[in-house]
Amino acid sequence: MKKIVSFIIICICQLSLFAQPQKIKQHLTGFKNLTVVKNLSGLQIIGTGKIVDPYHYSIVKSELFNKASVSCAHPLASMVGAAIMKQGGNAFDAVIATQLALAVVYPGAGNIGGGGFLVGHTPTGKNITIDYRETAPSKGSRDMYLDSAGKVIPNLSVLGHLANGVPGTIAGVFATLPYAKLPMKTLIQPAIDIAEFGFVITEKEASGLNATKESFVKNSTKPTAFVKNSKWKTGDTLVQKELAETLKRVRDLGQKGFYEGKTADLIVAEMQRGKGIISKEDLKNYKAKARTALTFNYKDYSIIGMPPPSSGGIIVLQMMKMIAQKPIASYGFQSTKAVQLMVEVERRAYADRAAHLGDPDFWKVPLKTLADNTYLKNRMANYDSTKATPSTAIKAGIINESDETTHISVMDAAGNMVSVTTTLNGGYGSRTVVGGAGFLMNNEMDDFSVKPGVPNMYGAVGGEANAIEPNKRMLSSMSPTLVLKKGKPYIVCGTPGGTTIPTSVFQTLVNLLEFNMSAEDAVNKPKFHHQWLPDEVAVEPSFPAKTIAELQAMGYKISPRTAIGRTEAIRILPNGKLETAADKRGDDSVAGF
Ligand code: DON
Repeated sequence: MKKIVSFIIICICQLSLFAQPQKIKQHLTGFKNLTVVKNLSGLQIIGTGKIVDPYHYSIVKSELFNKASVSCAHPLASMVGAAIMKQGGNAFDAVIATQLALAVVYPGAGNIGGGGFLVGHTPTGKNITIDYRETAPSKGSRDMYLDSAGKVIPNLSVLGHLANGVPGTIAGVFATLPYAKLPMKTLIQPAIDIAEFGFVITEKEASGLNATKESFVKNSTKPTAFVKNSKWKTGDTLVQKELAETLKRVRDLGQKGFYEGKTADLIVAEMQRGKGIISKEDLKNYKAKARTALTFNYKDYSIIGMPPPSSGGIIVLQMMKMIAQKPIASYGFQSTKAVQLMVEVERRAYADRAAHLGDPDFWKVPLKTLADNTYLKNRMANYDSTKATPSTAIKAGIINESDETTHISVMDAAGNMVSVTTTLNGGYGSRTVVGGAGFLMNNEMDDFSVKPGVPNMYGAVGGEANAIEPNKRMLSSMSPTLVLKKGKPYIVCGTPGGTTIPTSVFQTLVNLLEFNMSAEDAVNKPKFHHQWLPDEVAVEPSFPAKTIAELQAMGYKISPRTAIGRTEAIRILPNGKLETAADKRGDDSVAGF
């Protein structure tokens, strides 16, 4: 079964490329053993049965694959990952290549100037997590976003140089490399090629770049590839020469090609021109960290998630465990009873997030208690199935104990599963492009609690646990997730969406594990979200009116939200096929073989 939801035929606009086909051919070295051909409309790389053609590509929303597949936010990046597995790489190779390609083809969230989390599972049964979350610069301080009267200075943690955390993505991909089979130079080359020779942009990208133009100009100190005099149009070619050079330094010099030498010089020079505070030492000292995966059982399934500094794994655990005692499947999908129960568990989990979660290297996170069955049972003691529990009645449990991110899901034939969520935080991050290096910096500093009780851009409040300290990692909601069924690989999923991430993953899991939906439906069905504060239920447009009315009658405030999540999911069917789905809410697309 193959469903092509939309087919984009995009014409090549860079006539200069036609003039030098041989050069193009020479430079397309990333796909070893793959046939490189040219046709009238540009270049094509054949090798997966599909063509990775940066000038013509289609968005494929859902497909069954036999051996290996990728689902992510952009068709070219999914195809790069599939091509890498076709030429002998495993799911870890694919996730590295896909991530680097996304940094080129999806500048709104794909990144090398941001950070992320990886959750992996190997055929030997090993669970792996890699934390490459950004850190506060060493000159960062608790009150750095407050004025002399102690008030938050609007936008300082969101736009421009001071919003930047020290990037983690390149350290993250190198920390992933020991699990991969191919060398970095093979995995990074597709990204280099696409940056150097360009790719045609989709309608969504054109409108994103147009909408952000003024902000790029205001928050960057040098001209950038994202800004041109005329408006971007669907089918324009985006060429990123400076980014290609940065990626080449990483290819040739390894991690030092980013954190030291010329790239580090360019980052620090950008900081100095824009009053940022990231230093050469901050870059040199950045380290990705292996953490212990957060695992728990839900019925026949083992769920594997990311521990702090992401709040995602523990919130998903709490929510799944809080519904585990109820026969939710019998209530029916999107029934008032099911939605009300899920809203109430969301409320309680997010109250704990605000008080107890932060970087575990700086704050003692009471993980054991937060995951404890009795604790979670007690959290639901005041649950009333007939009415809303006001958030004022829900505090974090007392414990005494010593809008752009992007997700990649990959499975391979050997039984590796990899789930990566990576981000610049907001769309196009801080809008600061590193002059001469061609990549966007994150605005992840806004994920810290800049002042206790003051909401960040996702409306999340926090306190001491997530206060700013030098070199500390800011709390995240990113929830890359894996599921085993009776010990065997079963599901890879995850999503962007700020604080809606854990609730979207939670609902995707409930849709798959309780409501027996296809991966495509599980991802696309309208979602809802409650995060304790504000005390309201956000719902997507096509959420059933009857359920909304019944929830309102029970005392819930409903607030419409245009989109919740952009989930990428792969599930293994009983016949062994990989049911691979990309969210309908964006340009997300699947590839595999
Ligand atoms: O780490 C976090 O929780 C946020 N920086 C994620 C931001 C995000 O998902 C934005 N995407 N829509």
